[in-house]
Amino acid sequence: MITPTDSNITPFPGNMAEPIFAESQAYGLQPGTTPLLAELTETMQSAVNKCPGFGAAAAAKAAMRGFLCEPVLLDLCHKEGSTTNFKRHLLYAAPDGSLSLIAIVWMPGQVTPVHGHTAWGAVGVHEGSPFGENFDTWQNEHAALGLRSKMKMLLKPGDITTVRPGIDDLHRVGNDTPSRCITIHAYGQDLLANPTSLNIVFNN
Ligand SMILES: [Fe+2]
Repeated sequence: MITPTDSNITPFPGNMAEPIFAESQAYGLQPGTTPLLAELTETMQSAVNKCPGFGAAAAAKAAMRGFLCEPVLLDLCHKEGSTTNFKRHLLYAAPDGSLSLIAIVWMPGQVTPVHGHTAWGAVGVHEGSPFGENFDTWQNEHAALGLRSKMKMLLKPGDITTVRPGIDDLHRVGNDTPSRCITIHAYGQDLLANPTSLNIVFNN
């Protein structure tokens, strides 16, 4: 049985070098919020409140539709990338920890390590064509843990996927196109209070 406490798995941030960037340390909407982002957040929070557990991921996904491809959804400050790693911008954090919303900016060549999440999530593509790749685990005759790619998908604006908490939903996301990509992520946890609780990261 493989568990997140095994020695080959490390807590976030692992080799994800960049912390989530928050414009302020206050709950609620962050500086730079556009009117459309405020509307999306209100719609999503209301939907999540009605759906406890993993049902909240589907509710967040449904709420994201209709907003995701709008070019005025994000302010320029939330589209800023980094040359060193993908950059995460905190957009919203609910005081009760029920929902955090972040934007991730992927410059060409930037990719996460293989990881799982500690909470439900919904991920939508706002700009560009990032890829998502799913993995499963296997153990050889020496009980060493390995990762095996199951499927790699090129995503497009408007695509939305959900993630389950735990290590049964292992994946990585990246940008192997020559253009910037931006994704919007909703998670069922308080990333302002504990930005290190997002992922379970594999060392290999
Ligand atoms: Fe992920």
